[in-house]
Amino acid sequence: MCCCSCFEGLAHKLQLLNLNHSWYNIFAWILKPITLLITFYQQTQTISEPYLDHKRNRFGKNFACAGGVWMCDMAEVKKNLVEPQARTFKIGGMDLRKSKCPKKFILALSQSDTGGNGDWEACRAVVNEVIFDEACKKRGEDEISKKLIDDFAKEYKVVLKSKRKMDKLFQSSDSGLKKFVAKYIHYVVLGLDPSNVEQMKAIEHLYFELDPTLYYVNIISQIETAGTRGAKYKKALLKVAKIYEESPAISALNEKEERYKGMTKVELSLLIVSMMTFAGMLAPRTIIPILLGYKRLPNYEGHDTSSIQVKKVWDSIDLNNRDEVLKYMYECGRLCHPVQNTHKIAQTSFTAEFNGKNVKFPKGTMIYIPLQLANLDESIYGSNTYEFDHLRENLCPYSTLFHSLGNQTNGRVCPGKEVSEKLLVDLLIALGKVRHGLSEQGYDAKYDLHGSSNDANPQQPTKTTKEEKNEVTNDNNVVEKKEIDC
Ligand code: HEM
Repeated sequence: MCCCSCFEGLAHKLQLLNLNHSWYNIFAWILKPITLLITFYQQTQTISEPYLDHKRNRFGKNFACAGGVWMCDMAEVKKNLVEPQARTFKIGGMDLRKSKCPKKFILALSQSDTGGNGDWEACRAVVNEVIFDEACKKRGEDEISKKLIDDFAKEYKVVLKSKRKMDKLFQSSDSGLKKFVAKYIHYVVLGLDPSNVEQMKAIEHLYFELDPTLYYVNIISQIETAGTRGAKYKKALLKVAKIYEESPAISALNEKEERYKGMTKVELSLLIVSMMTFAGMLAPRTIIPILLGYKRLPNYEGHDTSSIQVKKVWDSIDLNNRDEVLKYMYECGRLCHPVQNTHKIAQTSFTAEFNGKNVKFPKGTMIYIPLQLANLDESIYGSNTYEFDHLRENLCPYSTLFHSLGNQTNGRVCPGKEVSEKLLVDLLIALGKVRHGLSEQGYDAKYDLHGSSNDANPQQPTKTTKEEKNEVTNDNNVVEKKEIDC
């Protein structure tokens, strides 16, 4: 334990040295290979919410990790989310392989005010106006998208009634959640026909059988695509890009539009493949198992968060109150953010305080924006921040769930926000009704705690602190007592 702690302290010092040393510091150069190894290890850990929470507990609001500076003060997070960002090829803490990313890779493009060449603005205009347009909104409200949700609710009911393990519903690629998300998002966002078996097969093959994140992420990509193996990704990726090119959304693109910098349909389809890889096919699949209580919340140091039974809260919500359902979704996302962090590149030198000492960093330093840690900030959410309370104050106005601070944004707020909110609320209502219906028929919802097969002791739920205070079960009182602010 003591050894680990010393190593952690040393790793922190090396990270700081690596980030702010002068060019002539021989000592820093000699230690570079060790620092690089530490950086790579830490980058792989940044997807773990408790890992970064622990770093903040240990080193304070500012710390160095994974090759960058983490500044968790809320004022700093806000500044980094509302001011334009200079970006590089990174997802969360992981470096991407630039040569594998499309030319128009929206996530890595810098905004004009930070030295960008206008490509981000052009990409964002296409995404906002051609992809997430009125037709997309209409599809999210029509009978086809409703039927997709109903069909998934039916599958959920069969699993609940038969008391089988939920694993197949959440993990298999031939039925359940993956198929549902693929059909729903591709239909609503691009207008693709969900009953076109051949197209859906190509899409599922790329995103679920191959997992294209492995094609883009540095080092893993080099291993995955070594020799002739890269060809299988390329083939699957180009096949899906071709399907996108002919989709109702992309086929309507005017390739000569100046505001889009003459973006072609081929360029846009490749951009959308990368968007689906890192956002569309990933974020909903990450958050839905949390919302439906299949996956436990992360266990934060010193807090028994993984024993919180979110399904009990879900079961107590008035499903006719969409606002409350939305808040339940935001509270789950607050405690377990599907996109834990993002980044920006410092455009000027800056100073940050570490353990009472001011440290100066040069222009070009990697600044991580800790979306997850911001969502747990005690200065905003109070001392019960590690507890579940979907009716808490400031929940939505300070949420970083969609890469903004509530409604405050630098324009990079997730363009899939409205589609995702609608999908998740509709899903919670439809599946919640299945649960209510079954319990009216004498089915006891507490027995469906057979979630993930790695859940510990699933039949004996521990109480949340809110339950102990008798607040959650008493749902009518709670709704009346607290104001809705979403
Ligand atoms: C629960 C669902 C979702 C959550 C929580 C979410 C969250 C986020 C976050 C935090 C970012 C910033 C990422 C970064 O800067 O590295 C982002 C960006 C983005 N998201 Fe989402 N997202 C969701 C769903 C979607 C969907 C369904 C789509 C599209 C089909 C989408 C498309 C995008 C795009 C294109 C960006 C890049 C925006 C830019 O840089 O201008 N997202 N999203």
